[in-house]
Amino acid sequence: MFSRRLIEIASLIPLKSHVIDVGCDHGLLDIYLTLNRKCTCIASDINENCLNQARENIKKFSLTKDIKVVKSDGLQEIEYSKDDYIVIAGMGTATILEILEGNHADHLIIQSNTDLTELREELLDDYIVEDEKIIKERGIYYVIMKLKRGYKLSTDSDYIIGPVIKKKKDGIYKEYKEHLLEKYEKIYESIKNTTLDKKLEVGRIIKIIKKYL
Ligand SMILES: C[S@@+](CC[C@H](N)C(=O)[O-])C[C@H]1O[C@@H](n2cnc3c(N)ncnc32)[C@H](O)[C@@H]1O
Repeated sequence: MFSRRLIEIASLIPLKSHVIDVGCDHGLLDIYLTLNRKCTCIASDINENCLNQARENIKKFSLTKDIKVVKSDGLQEIEYSKDDYIVIAGMGTATILEILEGNHADHLIIQSNTDLTELREELLDDYIVEDEKIIKERGIYYVIMKLKRGYKLSTDSDYIIGPVIKKKKDGIYKEYKEHLLEKYEKIYESIKNTTLDKKLEVGRIIKIIKKYL
């Protein structure tokens, strides 16, 4: 019932935290966090059908009194303090960045389904990566990031590979790096006949990934 991805997301959240789960969908993360990490959760979503599904699941676990369900576009309708943990998982980078615009949270747990380099380039202006995990589920690689407000100078390899991932080199790191390399080599192949600028940029990314293999 609880996917490995959701369990790994939960493992990055300290016990007894107050959590805002933006885009909760089924509400399973909130249920898991309430039962296993003693967290208090607000499960929120923009979509009423998803909220109804979350309400149903929450009821099945008899947690209706414990988990607050709120309809909200991003953080717009949610009151939160800077100590709360904001979780945004299973969405694309553009939506995640839109939701985070103007936020005042100190702690974020982010799992984007799309461009991680762009996500890091934007977020690392205001946040430091405390931890990062790579997991593979049903053949898909997911990177989960734990971020804390702050600033640290970042390098290209921090944006492309991830500052903690490249340091820890643990778990499925090697396999993930091969996957990244393959992805960018395919992109390079597909832009062979385009501008020199694009080729130089992708070529530079490939060089950085190879350096950390
Ligand atoms: C693929 S689901 C991910 C669900 C869950 N977070 C997970 O990781 O399994 C994405 C959810 O985000 C919600 N969503 C998309 N844009 C949103 C927004 N601007 N504000 C709140 N929820 C949003 C969708 O309705 C959907 O339920």
